[in-house]
Amino acid sequence: MTHKISFINYKGGVAKTTTAYHIACALAEIDEVNKVLLVDIDPQMNCTLLCGAPERWEERNKENKTLYNLFDSHIRNEEFNEDIIWESPIQKAGNIILDKLDIIPGNNMLLEIDMQLAELIRSTTIPRELAESHIRIRTILNSYIRTIEDNYDYIFFDCPPNLYYLTQNALTASDWYIIPTIPDFLSTVGLTMLLGIIERLSEEFRRNVASCSAGDRGAFAELKGLIFCRARKGSHGLLNLHKSIIQTVSNKFSDRYIFNSMTTEAIGFSEASRESLPVWLSRRNSKFQELGNQYRAITQELINLFQDDENE
Ligand SMILES: Nc1ncnc2c1ncn2[C@@H]1O[C@H](COP(=O)(O)OP(=O)(O)OP(=O)(O)O)[C@@H](O)[C@H]1O
Ligand SMILES: [Mg+2]
Repeated sequence: MTHKISFINYKGGVAKTTTAYHIACALAEIDEVNKVLLVDIDPQMNCTLLCGAPERWEERNKENKTLYNLFDSHIRNEEFNEDIIWESPIQKAGNIILDKLDIIPGNNMLLEIDMQLAELIRSTTIPRELAESHIRIRTILNSYIRTIEDNYDYIFFDCPPNLYYLTQNALTASDWYIIPTIPDFLSTVGLTMLLGIIERLSEEFRRNVASCSAGDRGAFAELKGLIFCRARKGSHGLLNLHKSIIQTVSNKFSDRYIFNSMTTEAIGFSEASRESLPVWLSRRNSKFQELGNQYRAITQELINLFQDDENE
């Protein structure tokens, strides 16, 4: 069974990309895991650049093999038969590593796609067609993912910091979503609203699917859990401020799953991202290895969650 997960938060810079990427890398290191796919929905294409240097991405872009081309051909009403999967992109010193990890690369041109999708629905006025368009512009990615998902154990969608159509495409293509958040005031203040908006969007999608009743059109993902990232530590453990926010959020969302493992604020990410490598493969020193252990712990917790689901 493929576990399809979107990493979502409309708050920017809360480590969505870093978390999705490093969990995917940690999964690719596990013997029992066969294949992992990252899908870079974000026009900033940071996840893509964490997998391969810009020059290597440029080669794929020249061949029209990025996520942009899938959406673009749909908008133009053209057939799309491209294989946009970039297999085993991660390299160290010119050698492929983490070969079980693939990516559908992003593209900064995706920035235009949300607006073009909005135009498609604006030009529709007949109620029956409106419902059909509503579904259509949110399921372009889902239709493609369904054709390739059987090859993967895990598919992660790295979403931009908004809930527009591209993100909603990720939400219909995945079964679950995870919210990475920093345990500080400004990052957590909007969490209730985020859950509420996704619930409302999901309900609206359900209603439109019901009114069209044409086959299996999918559904929005459901929340799998919240992950705290970049928690700040002093010499006596977590800073009181972060500790108290983690406690408040845990109380508030006691009916939702909060990952016990988290990442702490650390240096090392800029160096590793320059090399397009996960932190623990970028340097051997203990700081980088400790970060690796944090991501491995989160990854194991995720695996356990799915195992618990299967045993239920
Ligand atoms: N544990 C950490 N310690 C220090 N820096 C971190 C940590 N995790 C992530 N970062 C850095 O924080 C910055 C933001 O992370 P990231 O790009 O993953 O956030 P994001 O939520 O995906 O942002 P956006 O909303 O723009 O997509 C990056 O520079 C990243 O390297
Ligand atoms: Mg990001």
